[in-house]
Amino acid sequence: MFLNDAIEAYKFAKSMGAEEFGIHAMMGSNVLDPDYFLRIAELLREHAEIIEDKVGIDIRYFDMGGGFGIPYKPEERPLDLSRLSDLRNFFPGELWVEPGRFIVANAGYLLTRVTEVKRKGGKTYVGVDVGMNVLIRPMLYGAYHHIIKCGESEGFETVDVVGPICENTDKLAINRELPRVREGDLLVILNAGAYVYSMSSNYNGRPRPAEVVVLGSEYGISRFREPLDLLTMWQVVPEFI
Ligand SMILES: Cc1ncc(COP(=O)(O)O)c(C=O)c1O
Repeated sequence: MFLNDAIEAYKFAKSMGAEEFGIHAMMGSNVLDPDYFLRIAELLREHAEIIEDKVGIDIRYFDMGGGFGIPYKPEERPLDLSRLSDLRNFFPGELWVEPGRFIVANAGYLLTRVTEVKRKGGKTYVGVDVGMNVLIRPMLYGAYHHIIKCGESEGFETVDVVGPICENTDKLAINRELPRVREGDLLVILNAGAYVYSMSSNYNGRPRPAEVVVLGSEYGISRFREPLDLLTMWQVVPEFI
């Protein structure tokens, strides 16, 4: 049914004078299995052949979209890109891809300071100064972000890492084994370069943190910490009030 809709869309584009054609798929999200991409490529090529035949056009661009995964958990293995090298000559036209996470995720680290450690009902909660307004992925879809503690520690403890927002979903990690932490310790949340700042919000009246670029031994601010005024600067009282 979707293929029939696509055929109609290509026919319409042709009737409107379009001269160049491509086909695009968004393959998936955070996929680490190379065979998955090979299957999608076959599907895309098959669909393109059917469309070319039914519409009488040549498809020149084959865009596989994004979805190339990265290991978030220590036990996960990286996507073996060498297994995909045959794709370069697989399509009868140009191969395009739109990798997002694969390029930027591991370039970003989210730093947060421990504001308190609370032991209650047999559980340990590590409170930190970053909340779900900055890192929504764990609570939005159960995503895992590895967390490292800076400095020495004695022993490990299984904890929930929780933010400062008054919501019971303000959790960055649940039942996570971490080196023992104390108030003031610095934690580093890994793979925060993709879908973290871009999915952040000012929820709960919280300005977003600053961003710093580090290159070798040099570093500098690349985005300022949001000022509190920002939260109200576009607010007005309508004239009728
Ligand atoms: C059309 C399209 N292309 C590329 C991407 C990037 O995906 P990823 O970061 O999984 O590579 C997305 C993400 O949603 C997308 O919607």
